[in-house]
Amino acid sequence: MVALAVAAVAGIGGALAAPRQGSSQNAAEIVTPPPPAATAIPVPTRSEVPLAEVALCDRPEVQAGLAAGDDSAVIGAAGGGEGLRQAVIRGIAPCIDLRDPSHVWFVVNKAMPMEPIDYAPADWVAPSNVPLGNLAAVRTDIAPTVTAMFEASVAAGTGRIGMQNGYRGYSVQQRIHNDRVASLGKEAGERLAARPGYSEHQSGIAMDVFGCTPGCSSSEQFGTTATYQWVVEHSWEFGWIIRYEDGQTPITGYDPEAWHLRYIGPELAAAYHAGGFHTLEEFFGLPAAPGYLD
Ligand code: DAL
Ligand code: ZN
Repeated sequence: MVALAVAAVAGIGGALAAPRQGSSQNAAEIVTPPPPAATAIPVPTRSEVPLAEVALCDRPEVQAGLAAGDDSAVIGAAGGGEGLRQAVIRGIAPCIDLRDPSHVWFVVNKAMPMEPIDYAPADWVAPSNVPLGNLAAVRTDIAPTVTAMFEASVAAGTGRIGMQNGYRGYSVQQRIHNDRVASLGKEAGERLAARPGYSEHQSGIAMDVFGCTPGCSSSEQFGTTATYQWVVEHSWEFGWIIRYEDGQTPITGYDPEAWHLRYIGPELAAAYHAGGFHTLEEFFGLPAAPGYLD
């Protein structure tokens, strides 16, 4: 199918750019019982130690997965998405850098800029077989998940979905932020557009979607479309979540964006869905980020 350019679709970021590819016991006891004889407690072998009691980063599978850039392997070695989440929350996973935009566990918010601040993914591409708007490219390795998700919506009979505003570079985000602040003022503008270095779009693993049945409408209208409910119920199956949900502004710092989807991979997304989470901050036990620190 030929990709459609949807010029009428209006979303954050208005540059009319063609889809493109790129390359980058606290209290002491008075009487302390004697310790048991050493032979009374069998020493478990490493494989018998419950996963949560082993520092995740000491596991060879984790080290190999990180070295290979294989997030799924790392998460698998952690016992799945919930295992990785627990390890992060318990502070036994210092090698899981939430600020590194190259990983699916990446978190950026107004209190946590990405590192490096001018990060760009190695490569990005427009997903095939889907309606495309402006800046319609995501990190190359996850593009097939977009196509698969949107095709599943069609197969389910709920309608076509299009995407735009995938990867946005630092300077593009700077322009969008400046425009929003200029037109709406700093407070309202910054509830809509992130500062450069603080936007998920800069990672290449976020995108804005829009409904295309019967015709393509704007991203801002997505929450009113039939396909929106399908996305709420099924996007996690493809590794995607709705990042800025209604009612979460005190945690995320952004107005609700029914259209802004974020890729966290199928394993983490399954844990996110099963746990009934509504923000990545809660998922990883992070503080709320209602505003910038400066
Ligand atoms: N609109 C979202 C919050 C961004 O600018 O990244
Ligand atoms: Zn967005």
